[in-house]
Amino acid sequence: MKESENAKRKLPTGIDGLDAITYGGIPEFNQIIVAGGPGCGKTLLTFEILYNTAKKGIPCTYLTLEESQKNILENFKSAFPDLSDIDSLVESNKIVLAGNETASKVQTGTDSQSYAFSNVLSDIEEVVHMNNSKFLVIDSLSILKLMLGDLLIYRKSMFALRLNLKRLGVTSFLTMEMQHTTREAMSFGPEFFIFDGTIMMYQSIEENKRKYGLEILKMRGSNHSMSISPYEITDKGFRIFTISEI
Ligand SMILES: Nc1ncnc2c1ncn2[C@@H]1O[C@H](COP(=O)(O)OP(=O)(O)O)[C@@H](O)[C@H]1O
Ligand SMILES: [Mg+2]
Repeated sequence: MKESENAKRKLPTGIDGLDAITYGGIPEFNQIIVAGGPGCGKTLLTFEILYNTAKKGIPCTYLTLEESQKNILENFKSAFPDLSDIDSLVESNKIVLAGNETASKVQTGTDSQSYAFSNVLSDIEEVVHMNNSKFLVIDSLSILKLMLGDLLIYRKSMFALRLNLKRLGVTSFLTMEMQHTTREAMSFGPEFFIFDGTIMMYQSIEENKRKYGLEILKMRGSNHSMSISPYEITDKGFRIFTISEI
């Protein structure tokens, strides 16, 4: 099948509001950056999408480079007690949770930056092949940015990552930690231009209350809402509210 035909097929996220504002989900094989400040819900959102995808029978991998695999699972279960069959999805290998080993290589590596990054790429390939994943989350790219340091090497590495993910035939979400939480303070590194899509998650303070808002900044191969959609993190998962557009 030609890539132009593939690009039009969409993978629903299983989160009603997100599927509404993306007009049906993420174009298959796209790579989507999920960016926001600390605590806006990047880890929980990407894990919930992965959970919904695995429940449909699609094999998935969550590669965590920041928190331990155990923590991710425990946080998800305590945040979303209603999404209870997570353990059986892990046991049946529909969800592979990986990353501890890669993370320690990234954090303690003494190799040259590009050699260390080529190890990360081969780790990604290995975990994707473990259950023949069609859906991958990497949480987060920020730690790779720190590891690579030099902006030119980082940019080249992100191009290499993009090519590898296309070759592996996965639809992927890549989280990105931002310094700031508000829309006004955002700035964009090369990853925002290289990958296919960007979902921004903001937090603002209104009348002494923290408000969350989510925006599709870009989505190659797809039309999408141009609004900032308020969202909540509830014990049943994310609720993303669509705003009527004029
Ligand atoms: N058990 C929980 N119940 C309700 N909300 C939770 C729970 N755990 C986390 N959250 C909410 O989710 C946020 C953290 O989400 P997380 O996905 O870890 O953020 P990020 O990855 O963007 O730093 C917390 O700030 C909190 O508001
Ligand atoms: Mg996180």
